[in-house]
Amino acid sequence: MSTQTQRTLVLFKPDAVRRGLVGEILSRFEAKGLSIAALELRQIDAAQADAHYAEHVERDFYPPLREFVTSGALVAAVLEGDEAVEVVRAINGATDGRKAAPGTIRGDLSLSNRENLVHGSDSPESASREIALWFPNL
Ligand code: PPS
Repeated sequence: MSTQTQRTLVLFKPDAVRRGLVGEILSRFEAKGLSIAALELRQIDAAQADAHYAEHVERDFYPPLREFVTSGALVAAVLEGDEAVEVVRAINGATDGRKAAPGTIRGDLSLSNRENLVHGSDSPESASREIALWFPNL
């Protein structure tokens, strides 16, 4: 089966930074074989949150999500590797940490569908859009 090298945008959300889990989470991606193309600590404002979550801004859950992602520093990264978009989503686990499978980041480390530690682009198209938004010079 042929594989495709991809890049994907990963956010280590403010709960990951506050809880001191950035190293633990990053090591899972690195151990899997993904490589780091970009990595930066950021504090984003509401406008940047809205741009990132453009497809969700009208959803009921969005205002508290915006509050959360702007509540402290986060780490933005671009990870690269074979089928990186799908591989990162699998490592992250289901959105709700209470339902995510053991062995995934959220399944092992989160009890929430908001404070769920990580974001990974949901498709190659989203990855292109999000990488251009977060790392325009990459
Ligand atoms: S959907 O409906 O499948 O498109 O949405 P989903 O991928 O499950 O979630 C998209 C992002 O919204 C966050 N989310 C929430 N935040 C706060 N409160 C509630 N109830 C909630 N439900 C979903 C979820 O963590 C996703 O964030 P990212 O950063 O994309 O993983």
